[in-house]
Amino acid sequence: MEACVKRAEASHVLTPEEITALLGAPEVEECLAAAADRVRHAFVGDGVHLRGLIEFSNICRQNCMYCGLRRENGKVERYRLDADTIVELAHKAKGYGYQTVVLQSGEDLYFTAERLAAIVRRLKELDLAVTLSVGERSYEEYALWRTAGADRYLLRIETTDEAVYERWDPGMDYANRVRCLRDLRALGYEVGTGTLVGLPGQSLASIAADILFYQQLDADMVGIGPLIPNPDTPLGTAVPGDFHMTRRMVALLRLLLPEANIPATTAMETMVPHGRELILASGANVVMPNVTEGDPRRNYALYPGKVCVADTPAACRSCMSGRIRAMGRFVAKDKGFRRHRQS
Ligand code: 5AD
Ligand code: SF4
Ligand code: FES
Repeated sequence: MEACVKRAEASHVLTPEEITALLGAPEVEECLAAAADRVRHAFVGDGVHLRGLIEFSNICRQNCMYCGLRRENGKVERYRLDADTIVELAHKAKGYGYQTVVLQSGEDLYFTAERLAAIVRRLKELDLAVTLSVGERSYEEYALWRTAGADRYLLRIETTDEAVYERWDPGMDYANRVRCLRDLRALGYEVGTGTLVGLPGQSLASIAADILFYQQLDADMVGIGPLIPNPDTPLGTAVPGDFHMTRRMVALLRLLLPEANIPATTAMETMVPHGRELILASGANVVMPNVTEGDPRRNYALYPGKVCVADTPAACRSCMSGRIRAMGRFVAKDKGFRRHRQS
């Protein structure tokens, strides 16, 4: 198995069977992580890109069985930030030195294509890279936002197992999700996607297929995290996603997509204290500190126990940069595009 890791480090190619075997092999985890750390250093360097996350609406028309924002969850206090508040948070993010803001929300159709485009235009005036993460929309809507200046888009596929996808995201259509990713790619966005690890019914072979799907899509970013059961959802008593298997998946992603931007996600840290550092040392090169403030910060509750909810954005800024420096890494100064373009 270690020979397999060596070959992947040199060639960035593995078969589906090899990936499946490595995902299921705790005994190679350290070897995988060390190889991924070397590939990370060689291809994307020691800089860690910080992206300021603005959770601007927790209203969602979808009903994903694992997510606290699902429309049938009556326990969450819903909010929607207005345009001025979003711009003000972005301004503060810029003040913390973040070069990218990520605008994330549930699928909230109050934000029509025009409304969101107007916000994107205002953010671009601040000389920030702008990432959108607002779910499934039409080609025309994505095109309008791209013209308004949006640089990147995040839309996790969650799982490439169509039956598992449609079981846990009822009313959603796997083919449409793939259509969205292809449209975004065609429109020239940097495209981010990823896996929710631990959906009941998901197999190691399907997670291996996810990685090959990201290779084939030539994904610019891949963000993955373990399922954290939310008691206010139908998957509230499910088995949590496996932290260590997720770590092996991050390492394999780095070996097979050497240039990609890979975040150390909040869900990893929620499962294991200092989980983000462990993941940054296992192939990842991005962190997305939350810049949402006040009640909305608490109410963007995808899952329970989310770290940093009680901290201020400024505290997270100094906490994260201190932790990055303590690892012998540094906070990157550039916008962190994969495709080396101007914005
Ligand atoms: N546990 C972990 N991740 C979750 N997400 C939603 N609900 C949960 C949960 N309970 C993830 C999904 C979604 C992203 C925004 O958050 O993968 O794409
Ligand atoms: Fe809505 Fe996204 Fe949560 Fe699904 S995962 S319910 S689309 S916020
Ligand atoms: Fe939020 Fe450390 S990153 S408190």
